[in-house]
Amino acid sequence: DAGVYRVFINGAWRPSSSQKSIPIQNPAELAECYRVAACTKDEVDAAFAAAKRAQKKWCRTPLHLRATFLHHAARLLRENAATIAACLTNEVAKGRKDSVKEVMRSADLVDYCAEEGLRILNQGQMFAPDSFPGENRNKVCLSSRVPLGVVLAIPPFNYPVNLCVSKVAPALIAGNAVVIKPPTQGAVSVLHMMQCFSLAAKATGLQLDIDAGCAAAPAPESGDSGVTAPFGAPTGIGGLINVVTGRGGEIGDYMVEHPSVNCISFTGGDTGLAIAKRAPMVPLQMELGGKDACVVCADADLDAAASAIIKGGFSYSGQRCTAIKIVLPVDSVYDALLAKVHDKVKKLKVGKPEDDADIVPLVSSSSADFVQGLVQDAVAQGAKLHGGEGYVSEDGTLGGWKRVGNLVYPLIVDGVTESMKLYHEEPFGPVVPFVRGIATPEEAIAIANRSKYGLQGCLFTQNVDDAMRLSDMFETGTVQVNGPPARGPDHFPFQGVRDSGIGSQGITNSIHMMIKTKTTVLNLK
Ligand code: G3H
Repeated sequence: DAGVYRVFINGAWRPSSSQKSIPIQNPAELAECYRVAACTKDEVDAAFAAAKRAQKKWCRTPLHLRATFLHHAARLLRENAATIAACLTNEVAKGRKDSVKEVMRSADLVDYCAEEGLRILNQGQMFAPDSFPGENRNKVCLSSRVPLGVVLAIPPFNYPVNLCVSKVAPALIAGNAVVIKPPTQGAVSVLHMMQCFSLAAKATGLQLDIDAGCAAAPAPESGDSGVTAPFGAPTGIGGLINVVTGRGGEIGDYMVEHPSVNCISFTGGDTGLAIAKRAPMVPLQMELGGKDACVVCADADLDAAASAIIKGGFSYSGQRCTAIKIVLPVDSVYDALLAKVHDKVKKLKVGKPEDDADIVPLVSSSSADFVQGLVQDAVAQGAKLHGGEGYVSEDGTLGGWKRVGNLVYPLIVDGVTESMKLYHEEPFGPVVPFVRGIATPEEAIAIANRSKYGLQGCLFTQNVDDAMRLSDMFETGTVQVNGPPARGPDHFPFQGVRDSGIGSQGITNSIHMMIKTKTTVLNLK
């Protein structure tokens, strides 16, 4: 398996018995940068069996040691931020600085999660029976919080590390074990993250691997060398966290339907809807995309709104579920706002992630094709384009626009109407549609509420009463007043309605999501 990254199952780095691998293409260079193993269903079974066994011990490991383990993992993430960030830049073309930021943010999340877990999980409730008719004080009911069991964590390509630890850390502090199915692009970053957790087990002195190995898993190898197997001997983590790489089409359904899954935490696209159908009776935490609207009122600070549209619409080339994906200004400010945003779009630097360009190549050529198709459809129906760098003729047509490989140059699409695909779809690219002809903010919010998505929305006004009234009308998981949509800080509740998701995330809510209530009733003599 020369050149193929191994997977982490039952506390050891292993090659897949399939002998098959999956290439990962660097989106900027359009060349293979890594290869990961295509795991088999037997290896999936081995991962779940190991997780199930480790969880039994882990949930009895003192809470303060679980927290210590997470603090060690956070420290190791920080110490190895440059290495992990380099993988992110290679695999998903995230800017160099943003990649480091993602790892540091992840370390902070893990630390915070350890502390929040100590606060949440050391408490239970006591119920006295005699508030219920007919009861006297002959019983005591103790209600405590216990883990769900094995959590299947499925992070997306756009935050492979951060949206992995945002599932893994709450699961672990609550006493669960984890099986991770990383996205193929992003998998190598997740494998490096895994190694930080593995070494954290050693630093904590965990001994979760004293059980015999899983029968179905191949034996761990020794004497590894080279980049594909730099990760050394078992560290005591056992099956607490397992990473299984592979094609969704081959092992995806098998994993989500696995009888050992007690919770699924998924971030991604429409696949989530299919998962929900395949996993009855399994608690689900899902974030499935958005069409976040930016409503701009007549009294808005237009400079602030324009800056937010740039940050919200174009960061990481729009490849964020919380990106601004439709701008709905009232007509009286439409042209002034568009001019301000256009001025800023002209200043966006387009280029390579290694150079920290503002606009970087999209993750795949199919993503770039999709975005291009949306723009072509809009222009064919009369929308006008306003470009930045790479837009050579200011004639509003597609003719002046540039795409090089996966690098899609930034665009404002002016005058998008309901018949255009861009009005409804999330582009996941550096292309922001503006809708004309809106008389009132109420009308704008009605448009936003008709979307099948309902993740976040943002509105700009200087009137606090309007802000509260309009925010109340917005049917989304979060409304940002005078700021762009964003998930963080990572302890804030984060959730979507309609096709944007199920359940609530954020550190506190995720810990609550990954525990269940257990009651013990003492019947007194
Ligand atoms: O892509 C989905 C992420 O949850 C968005 O996170 O708002 O921090 O960019 P972000």
